[in-house]
Amino acid sequence: MFVLGLQGSPRPKGNTRALLSAFLDEVERLGGRVTTLDVTKMKVMPCKGCGACERKGYCPQDDDMQAAYPLLREADLVVLATPIYFYGPTAQMKAFIDRSQALWSRKYALDLEDPGRKWRKGFLLAVGATKGKNLFDGTNLTARYFFDAIGAGFEGTLGYRHLEKMGDIEKHPTALAEAREKAGELITPFLKRKKVLFVCRENACRSQMAAAFARQMAGDRFEVESAGSAPAEKVNPMMEKVMAEKGIDMAYLKPSAISDLPDDWQPDALVSMGCEDACPSFPGAVTEEWDLPDPSKESLDFMRNVRDQVEKRVKGFVSEFGG
Ligand SMILES: Cc1cc2nc3c(=O)[nH]c(=O)nc-3n(C[C@H](O)[C@H](O)[C@H](O)COP(=O)(O)O)c2cc1C
Repeated sequence: MFVLGLQGSPRPKGNTRALLSAFLDEVERLGGRVTTLDVTKMKVMPCKGCGACERKGYCPQDDDMQAAYPLLREADLVVLATPIYFYGPTAQMKAFIDRSQALWSRKYALDLEDPGRKWRKGFLLAVGATKGKNLFDGTNLTARYFFDAIGAGFEGTLGYRHLEKMGDIEKHPTALAEAREKAGELITPFLKRKKVLFVCRENACRSQMAAAFARQMAGDRFEVESAGSAPAEKVNPMMEKVMAEKGIDMAYLKPSAISDLPDDWQPDALVSMGCEDACPSFPGAVTEEWDLPDPSKESLDFMRNVRDQVEKRVKGFVSEFGG
């Protein structure tokens, strides 16, 4: 499982950093995979409100946010960590949040659903200097709408008051332990999922569609990966189009090789569909071979037909192994 941490304090040894580290170290200790984006070090321009994302589904601003979109899509859990500045998140974090409008647009303007939306989780970590009752209200609201934009259910907040100087959080009686505890609570259900790998030749059509259907139908029960024996450079645009006809958002996906999978990632089930003589084998994994034709050089109707066959097969697979 994969957790994305968003770090929003510009201070090198700040309280937010320590709180987020406690959370993410625990995720790693329990076997989760972690990436932290230090938002304060990224070049993320503020949203210009140009409306391009509402028309085209992508933000045209070419900066570090472009690398963040695929990670937001890949994550099972996104942790937004920020100090309170004037009752909101820091400006750097707010710019990042505003740029998630591109994902908001894909859902609400273009009517496309990210397959992870049903089960992805979001959590807020926040710190502030004062003791005010309403200290986290503004940021909680912002976080709620950010998590909705990126397709994550808002699971709540750990907010700590009366922390001003760098290092104050280390003296807090419970904060770091609570962050660790919350990490365990949030990721344990994800860690219990069965691992499924869909493989085809280019990882541009069939295995991408299968993975998306499986994520959408049962991503809470299956940790789904897909790969190709000879990965293409990009996913097939016809495949994106026919999945969009079903309302499924395939943006930000890239073909990957079987060898790109982490060494310790062993699937419980392997479904291959035409990876020819380069199909991998995983001892102990339930293995299925789906006889599905390669649609990459065929017509749009052919692609639709393969999509429907993939959907039907995944449905059967989920009801058989979904437990
Ligand atoms: C520009 C600025 C605005 C701030 N606004 C607030 C605020 O509205 N309420 C509050 O309680 N603390 C406020 N603080 C204090 C920080 O939230 C506090 O020092 C926090 O511990 C900083 O977190 P860090 O160590 O992770 O950077 C502000 C600090 C700065 C620099």
